[in-house]
Amino acid sequence: MVIRRGNWMHYSLSWKIVLSQMSSHVEGAKVRMLQLLVRHATAVSCAERGLKSHLLLRGEQPATLTGYNLISTLYGNVSYVPRSLYARREEMLLKHAHTVAGNDGLVFSLADLEASLFSHGCGEHSSHVDSLTKRSKKVAIINEGAGDAAALLGVVRLVEYLSQDHLFGKDQQLKIIIDAGTGTTAVGVGIGAVCLGLPWEVTAVMLADTIDGYQKKEESLISEFRRCFTLHLGEQMLTGLEPGLVHWVERSSPRKFGNILKGEVEICRKIAQDTGILLDPVYTLAAWELATQLGQEESAEVVMLHTGGTLGMFGLAQRYKSYFEIC
Ligand SMILES: Cc1ncc(COP(=O)(O)O)c(C=O)c1O
Repeated sequence: MVIRRGNWMHYSLSWKIVLSQMSSHVEGAKVRMLQLLVRHATAVSCAERGLKSHLLLRGEQPATLTGYNLISTLYGNVSYVPRSLYARREEMLLKHAHTVAGNDGLVFSLADLEASLFSHGCGEHSSHVDSLTKRSKKVAIINEGAGDAAALLGVVRLVEYLSQDHLFGKDQQLKIIIDAGTGTTAVGVGIGAVCLGLPWEVTAVMLADTIDGYQKKEESLISEFRRCFTLHLGEQMLTGLEPGLVHWVERSSPRKFGNILKGEVEICRKIAQDTGILLDPVYTLAAWELATQLGQEESAEVVMLHTGGTLGMFGLAQRYKSYFEIC
């Protein structure tokens, strides 16, 4: 969901909401990435008739499963990973993937697969898939936050969708505000804007890392995107695709990632009742705060990309019982 403002003095005035047909209301950004990922993973592993997911979640299993934990457990195979091991994400994912794949299986990265399918062209697509399907088990690793080049294509497709004439069009100056966990969504929107030649400026609120970390992430995603897709998209389309696409800014009330502050649930509740827009205090409230502030200062149109987060509220209600005692 995308929220833009007209000329409002206060957040409750003049919001316009653009619902992307490409996404579900609840978990927009991630669903978009997965639509893309699942499509190709399905193509590769169609011989298996369906995909099995193995989800590695940080920390301990909660006493009562709810929200993301519950849904993940219903749909996939969940393992809770101690925080010390989870800190080395790539190593942990690779090790688990190899365990799932077993001796005969194949572990691959989706970005490499995507790049290879593009560069082999449609004619050789199926023979490439065939060569992969000869292996008994194929295990694709999806990084935390779907942080790889394959997922970026899904976000680029969202940008393309939003730049249609009946939505934002291609000529309007926009300031897009996004809350950043890994920063992948923000970088994807920045890449999309450059590739499609849009005068859009992307600002991301940093929630889980330092500016150094986000800038490194941006650099590595851009170079992975170039490595995988230059051949397919052409050098000209990627002109201007350099680090510095995203303005990374602090949250107005910084805190340890995942924590929420007293009063924020009540703010989300008030906004939901006033506008019909549900925010969560971990992610989307951060983007909302910045968007409302800039909305009063900027002459450009300010647009907040609503990234989802509703399911996260269920887990927060367990962790922060007293904040949810609403009278
Ligand atoms: C609701 C919500 N918003 C934002 C993010 C962060 O997205 P990214 O990791 O692409 O920055 C997440 C990630 O899980 C999320 O669940």
